[in-house]
Amino acid sequence: MLSSVLRANLGARAATPRVGARCVVRGIASSTQAAPGRITRNAVAATLASGLIGAWYIHLYGSPIHAMTPAEEGMHPIKWPWDHTGHFSTFDHQSLRRGYQVYSEVCSACHSLNFIAYRNLVGTTHTVEEVKAMAEQVEYDSEPNDQGEIEKRPGKLSDYLPAPYSNEEAARAANQGALPPDLSLMIKARHGGCDYVFSLLTGYPDDPPPGVEVQEGLNYNPYFPNGQLGMARVLYDGLVEYDDKTPATASQMAKDVVQFLNWTAEPEMDERKKMGMKVIFIASTLFALSVWVKRFKWAPLKNRKIVYDPPQV
Ligand code: HEC
Repeated sequence: MLSSVLRANLGARAATPRVGARCVVRGIASSTQAAPGRITRNAVAATLASGLIGAWYIHLYGSPIHAMTPAEEGMHPIKWPWDHTGHFSTFDHQSLRRGYQVYSEVCSACHSLNFIAYRNLVGTTHTVEEVKAMAEQVEYDSEPNDQGEIEKRPGKLSDYLPAPYSNEEAARAANQGALPPDLSLMIKARHGGCDYVFSLLTGYPDDPPPGVEVQEGLNYNPYFPNGQLGMARVLYDGLVEYDDKTPATASQMAKDVVQFLNWTAEPEMDERKKMGMKVIFIASTLFALSVWVKRFKWAPLKNRKIVYDPPQV
């Protein structure tokens, strides 16, 4: 009973395409015979119409509209060959250590690094003894004692790096009204990241180009939006003396401090990349395994051949 129903079904299905096929063949034959000129005309009209629509679209959206001129947006930084930005590369920790030195000897006069505590430096740029010694050189407010007095105490590993100014007003007053921003997340906060900050630090020309009027108290730098900023050039060859005897050229210091600032913005980067590699390795192994298991389980079904056995009349 069941097999006869199945057969009848299969028979009906097998018959359908044949009817369909005949119809299609007839349809094509009649249209080509009847009007070959109409097809050519239609094709020409369709091409023209799509060309016109395309031209109209390009007219509307083709050329980008800038709210500001390129000079106002700032010059686009060059892509520098950083050795820590690849998928498999880590920070160069020698460079981070030099970068911290540049930050603490130069930038920390004006910029805070509010999100970095001394303990974060341990094992990254310095040993625990070195960091303890560095922290102890800074004075912090102690917890109030029984009389409610706050005294000074030497810093410890859990303290955050000291900020140069106690509040925004003091920072602005010392910098002709400009506020030196916190640098902890600077690399993530600016378009161009490391490339931008490096170009900014090394991009101060001796003189502004002819025709550019620099405002009183500002400094010309083509990479800064609008070309003029409150920070003057700070890095000059030989400004710091590196412990490891690396020649302290301006670009070397800029590279080191930028890499250090990338670490402060993404302290988890090395660990994240290592974790990413593990995830990709394990996930692709499991995926390959699941493909194999699927094929193994489905093999008896996929290999089955269903043959139409017409009823013997
Ligand atoms: C003498 C004070 C001073 C020193 C030293 C200094 N800066 Fe600045 N910096 C400023 C001021 C002021 C601004 C704000 C400029 C503005 O908004 O016009 C600024 C802005 C910046 C910016 C932000 C630019 C932007 O796109 O908004 C970065 C990045 C920066 N400084 C990095 C550094 C680094 C790195 C160092 C150390 C190598 C450093 N600065 C040293 C005063 C200083």
